[in-house]
Amino acid sequence: MLYIWPVTLNQLWHLRARPKNSSYFCPMPNQPDQLSTLRERFISELRATFTDQEPRGLYAPIDYILDLGGKRIRPVVALLAAQMFGDDDLSQSMPVALAVEVFHNFTLLHDDIMDDSPLRRGQQTVHEKWDVNTGILSGDLMLIQAYQHLCAVPNKTALPALLQTFNRVATGVCEGQQYDVDFEVRDDVTIAEYLKMIELKTAVLLGGALEMGALSAGASQADADHLYAFGRLTGLAFQLQDDLLDTFGDSANTGKLKGNDIIRNKKTFLFLKAIELLGPEGREELNRWFEESPADPAQKVVRVTELMESVGIPGAVAELRDKFQAEAYAHLEAAGGSQEAKTVLRALTEGLLQRIS
Ligand code: IPE
Ligand code: IPE
Ligand code: MG
Ligand code: MG
Ligand code: MG
Repeated sequence: MLYIWPVTLNQLWHLRARPKNSSYFCPMPNQPDQLSTLRERFISELRATFTDQEPRGLYAPIDYILDLGGKRIRPVVALLAAQMFGDDDLSQSMPVALAVEVFHNFTLLHDDIMDDSPLRRGQQTVHEKWDVNTGILSGDLMLIQAYQHLCAVPNKTALPALLQTFNRVATGVCEGQQYDVDFEVRDDVTIAEYLKMIELKTAVLLGGALEMGALSAGASQADADHLYAFGRLTGLAFQLQDDLLDTFGDSANTGKLKGNDIIRNKKTFLFLKAIELLGPEGREELNRWFEESPADPAQKVVRVTELMESVGIPGAVAELRDKFQAEAYAHLEAAGGSQEAKTVLRALTEGLLQRIS
């Protein structure tokens, strides 16, 4: 628990007070009932996959991370994309939803090791609760399980296209994660490079979830492509909000260690834009903080946050985030399919822009 220094006592109390297994999905205003119904249905299908299988050292961490909660955005958008094209009972798309959520949680296990993160969804990360080797191996098995779920789609004629999309997206996530880590030690990262990095590590999976949901229900590739484009742009907005919350959010809501991106010298839009906007003195100070990894990073987090705030970074992030989301809607409108499901999908994404968790 050496890692929790930037978490205030008050935040810690909130984390402890939160009931175990409660979902870190904060209900957002004006969210249609269909969303919670879909989420609940998905969670019960997911829980049905849990087993008592041995060795427990391999399987218990998988159930742990999958049952910790989370917003379940990727499976829900996959199911909605399928509903747009007639999969009303979700029988065609549920395996896709399971595949993307298990894959997403696999990436979190490994991401938390790579980012040295102690907290996930308000609880200990897998490598903290067990150890790094457990995080690696249980994560590896989750990747295999994701493929097993995908291969269970009833519509076998759609399977080659689904696998092709899944492989494309999963490769992209790995590439994005490598850029993210490479950028930690680079001092010449551009905003264009950052955007490419978040497209790969985050946006392609959101796009892929929508594309695969649509394909599983028999949508045309043209419609699936529009949904992919909608998801990709939504994913860029989503990661910008994630980066904003890492510095300016509340640990009690995000369930993550506040300021971890600053501690890890992550070249987020927040950092890059602040470098651009600060005067020479501020720029030099910010660069200096990002060349150091102090044993006690509390002061670094406070000072870097102040520097970012002084040049209006939260507003700049919100502006770019909203621009991507506005562009995303054009692709949603261009896709065919049921208007009702589209409306629910739009409500979900609008809520994501305001999310605090
Ligand atoms: C976290 O994703 C990782 C990112 C791509 C930013 P989410 O914010 O969707 O995590 P959960 O599943 O809701 O916890
Ligand atoms: C994670 O990005 C993206 C993937 C897991 C592929 P972050 O490192 O920003 O996600 P959090 O903030 O730990 O959830
Ligand atoms: Mg991380
Ligand atoms: Mg990361
Ligand atoms: Mg983050």
